[in-house]
Amino acid sequence: MRIVHISDVHFGYELRRDMVKKAVKQINELEPDLVILTGDIGLWGIHQEFRDAYETLSDLKADLMAIPGNHDARNDGLKYFKLYFGKLRKALKLDDYIIVGVDSSMPDSDDGHIGSEQREWMAEKFRKGCVNMLALHHHIVPIPHTGRNMNVLVDAAEVIETLMTHCHGGIVLAGHRHVPYSTKLLRTHIIHAGTLSSYKVLMPDNNYNILELESESITLKLRFIDLGEVEIGRFRIKHEPPESTGIYHRLSGTRKVLFVSRSNACRTKIAEAIFNEISPGNMHAVSAGTEPAKTIDATAVKILDELSIGVSKPRKLSQEMLEDADYVVSFDEEIKADEYWDIRSPENAEDCRKTAKKIEGLARELVRKILV
Ligand SMILES: [Fe+2]
Ligand SMILES: [Fe+2]
Repeated sequence: MRIVHISDVHFGYELRRDMVKKAVKQINELEPDLVILTGDIGLWGIHQEFRDAYETLSDLKADLMAIPGNHDARNDGLKYFKLYFGKLRKALKLDDYIIVGVDSSMPDSDDGHIGSEQREWMAEKFRKGCVNMLALHHHIVPIPHTGRNMNVLVDAAEVIETLMTHCHGGIVLAGHRHVPYSTKLLRTHIIHAGTLSSYKVLMPDNNYNILELESESITLKLRFIDLGEVEIGRFRIKHEPPESTGIYHRLSGTRKVLFVSRSNACRTKIAEAIFNEISPGNMHAVSAGTEPAKTIDATAVKILDELSIGVSKPRKLSQEMLEDADYVVSFDEEIKADEYWDIRSPENAEDCRKTAKKIEGLARELVRKILV
C-alpha cells in the first residue's frame, strides 16, 4: 500500500501555487491508495483559503484524508474546514491498516491539544493485529535543530501513553514545523512532513513524504518537489504490546480497602485505623458491619486510645460500599471477601494489644499485596 503524506499547504498569501500544481501532478503519477494532509490548509482560517484549497486539491485522483492544523482554527475557521474537508476527526481501515486522524487544534491558539475525549475515541478505533496509524497536526515529541521546541501537544504525555497502550507499535504522521523528520519512540514511528507549498520552507525545497507500507515494514521516502526523492529508510513494524506502561498506573492508582465483620466493632475498627496509619498516600480503608453494631467495650476503647487508635462510629455495610471497594477483607468467614483474617474479637485489654499487633502485621502484608 502506498500513502502520500502532505502537510502545511497554507493556501493564502504564503502559498507557492506552482508547488501545489507540481505536487498534485507528481502524486497522481504515484497512484497512491490514500493522501493524508496533516493540517494547516490555510493561513487565517478564512473561507477563500479553504475553497481555493478544496478546488485545487480536487485534482488529486486518490482519496484525501485531511485534518485541521492550528492555522485552520484561526478566526473560527473550522466551520469552513468542515464545509470542504469533512469531519475534524476521522478513521478508516485500509487492508490491515487503521488510520485515525484527530483534531489537535485549539481555537485561536497555536498550541495543540487532543483532549481526553478524543484520546478515548482514538483508543477505541485502534485494532490489535492491525498496523495503527495516527494522523495529527502538532508534535508529540519535539523536533531538534529547528530553533524552538515549543510545538509539542499540551497533552503529549497522555497521547504517547495512549499510543503505547493501544497502538502496539504504530505510526504517527504529523506536520506543523515545516520540517520533515522521523524518529522512533519505543515501537512507534513518528513521521513529520514538511510544508508542501508554503514559502516558509525550512529545507532546500518544498516537500512531502511517500510511505510504502507492507505488513511488517514501512519504507519512507522524502520527495522534494523540484530536487527529487531521497529514501530515508526501511523500518520494521512490530505489534507487540509494551511491557512497562501499565505497571506505573497500577502503582500510583488509588485503592480503597474495606474491612468487614458482623458487628463492625473492635477488630474492623482497629484494622481500619492501623491500615490508614501505615498505608501509602494512595490507599484508604473503611470498615463496616453486616449487622447492627455492638458498642465497643470501654476498656477496649481506653487501650485503643493508648495505642493511638481512634474508634469511629460503626457503619452498616451497603452494596455501594462493596462496589466501591478495590479489596475486601472479612473477619467473619461467612462474609464473602477477597481475603479472610482469622482474628477473634478481643475480650480484654491484653487481647486488644495482641489483636492490634497481629492486625498491623497483616495490614503491612496487605499493602504490599495490593500495591501491584
Ligand atoms: Fe504550518
Ligand atoms: Fe501549524
